[in-house]
Amino acid sequence: MDRSGTPIEFGNEGGVVRDDVRLTAPAAGRNQAAITEVLGRRLGDLAGDVLEVGSGTGQHVVAFARALPRLTWWPTDPDPDHRQSIDAWRGHAGLGNVRPAVSLDAAAADWRLGAPGLPPADRLVAILAINVAHIAPWAVTEGLIRGAGRHLGPGGQLLVYGAFARDGRHIAASNARFDASLRRQNPAWGVRDTADVAALAAEQGLALADVVTMPANNLTLVLTKDGA
Ligand SMILES: C[S@@+](CC[C@H](N)C(=O)[O-])C[C@H]1O[C@@H](n2cnc3c(N)ncnc32)[C@H](O)[C@@H]1O
Repeated sequence: MDRSGTPIEFGNEGGVVRDDVRLTAPAAGRNQAAITEVLGRRLGDLAGDVLEVGSGTGQHVVAFARALPRLTWWPTDPDPDHRQSIDAWRGHAGLGNVRPAVSLDAAAADWRLGAPGLPPADRLVAILAINVAHIAPWAVTEGLIRGAGRHLGPGGQLLVYGAFARDGRHIAASNARFDASLRRQNPAWGVRDTADVAALAAEQGLALADVVTMPANNLTLVLTKDGA
């Protein structure tokens, strides 16, 4: 979404609508159950702090926090309208394990974590980014991986959901069309390749532990930090 309320693609499954201060993204409604299922499998037995990059509307984070109450959820987004929406969803849900939305630009050299009221700097259980990597410049993916290398605790997981190519090939014709439409909107955007993400992650001590096939030709990449 943009400041004028104009819907933009929020994934490869649809746009965004503005209801009230709580924004809703139909794609987030559709992919929520499948992502929650993956999070349950990967994080269900854990306690600790999870940082979400690019939380968007905030629909997801309250659903995840409800499903996984042992974890403390830290939604972030650089867009003030999105943070307002996240905080509205948080207030509406009334959950004790969702923290107020924090401004975070994943591409920043320093995420400035660890201060009071901010996510912990050195012991995150997981970092989550849903439909962010392709709707942002590659520098955002670089920053995401750098931040994961720096801020995840030993064995921590970076979970990245979205449309990805595999080893230079789109996994569906619709993803190729989606990629072209993203690059028309902004030449710096585009569907990323799993191999490129894995290579970058390896430099930061993260290994591609799993690639989960998701509905609508999406994938969840699970990158784990050394030291489990
Ligand atoms: C397509 S939306 C996805 C939102 C949400 N994760 C979802 O799946 O519904 C992309 C989000 O990434 C955020 N974003 C854009 N640039 C970013 C950056 N440099 N760092 C972190 N988030 C960013 C946008 O503000 C937006 O909320």
